[in-house]
Amino acid sequence: MNAVPQTPTWPLGMPPSLPLDRRGRPLRDLRLSVIEACNFRCGYCMPADQVPDDYGLDSASRLSFDEIETLVRGFARIGVNKLRLTGGEPLLRKRLPELIARLSAVPGIEDLALTTNGSLLAGQAEALHRAGLRRLTVSLDALDADLFRQMSGGRGEVSTVMAGIDAATRAGFHSLKINCVVQRGINENQVLPLVEHFRGSGHVLRFIEYMDVGTCNGWQRAQVVTSAELRDRIASRWPILPLDPNYRGEVATRYRFEDGAGEIGFVSSVSETFCGDCHRARVSADGHLYTCLFASEGTDLRGALARGETAFAGHLAGLWSRRVDRYSELRGEREAAKGRHVEMFLIGG
Ligand code: GTP
Ligand code: 5AD
Ligand code: SF4
Ligand code: SF4
Repeated sequence: MNAVPQTPTWPLGMPPSLPLDRRGRPLRDLRLSVIEACNFRCGYCMPADQVPDDYGLDSASRLSFDEIETLVRGFARIGVNKLRLTGGEPLLRKRLPELIARLSAVPGIEDLALTTNGSLLAGQAEALHRAGLRRLTVSLDALDADLFRQMSGGRGEVSTVMAGIDAATRAGFHSLKINCVVQRGINENQVLPLVEHFRGSGHVLRFIEYMDVGTCNGWQRAQVVTSAELRDRIASRWPILPLDPNYRGEVATRYRFEDGAGEIGFVSSVSETFCGDCHRARVSADGHLYTCLFASEGTDLRGALARGETAFAGHLAGLWSRRVDRYSELRGEREAAKGRHVEMFLIGG
């Protein structure tokens, strides 16, 4: 009797269907770090007393633009349609507009965004827009100049970031997202001034709960200011109404000002978990895949990348289909026995 022909396995062609992980979640959103270095030293991410000034890989250890393009093509083939470039500080990566132009042309990538600390934005906004970038998120933890300087580890000036935001608006970026990580006793008093500043600007301010990502920030639950608390404080000054999510699995919960002055958001990754709809993967600048922000280990993708886009897509589909991560949901149980987590500056936000 003839042997029954074997069904071809993924490395020979397109995966038969878009992979789901073990919890039935598809992969939609890739966050790709283009550089691990940063010119700031925010205490919640890269504390100056823990990370040396000259921290960073030699450029040969980072994925090349060719490798990055193959990688993004592979991810797009298994379902990714949203791509966010992160760091460290992505604007430190040389020739970034050239990379953006290549990635914005990848079939299937419908949304290309970038997260920056804004310090180099004024000089680059126009080139980024010209290259095809349309969405920008700028981190901004304080309006007060001294506090901003202190929170960036003595490296940043709030006026420079504001100039970056203005330059981006002039360059054609509309409705930027402005992210503020709130820490108890540090920048809580900046919340209302930030809301006042950005109300009516067309930009969307979002407050993020301080998370236990990485191990070098010495996170403690007492430092977290919950979104519920902030929401009440803001609403008692400017009434707000809830909005529906823009898409399933959106990280931030959205509100609009009753008086029509625009929108704000809250990312409640400590107080309310959203792992059930987590369609995100992260890749570090040296080509390691992390299937959760809180993973302790990444998977080296370089070998699979060298085999080309199709084989790479098959390899990825296999990795994604084995994913079980849901760290935030398990946080309570894990807190007592805190393990090692990858640092946020290696995989962006
Ligand atoms: P859009 O694409 O515009 O919807 O942006 P986003 O809200 O998905 O992205 P952004 O990177 O601005 O996310 C805001 C912050 O939310 C990040 O900096 C992280 O602090 C946090 N965050 C994003 N994704 C996750 C996640 O998968 N898990 C957890 N726990 N936190 C996340
Ligand atoms: N908690 C919450 N968000 C963090 N980020 C970095 N570290 C943390 C943390 N410990 C996010 C912030 C910042 C982006 C680059 O990464 O949103 O704006
Ligand atoms: Fe740099 Fe962003 Fe980390 Fe601050 S949060 S140290 S700006 S990577
Ligand atoms: Fe996704 Fe992990 Fe965040 Fe849960 S904790 S939402 S699985 S990245």
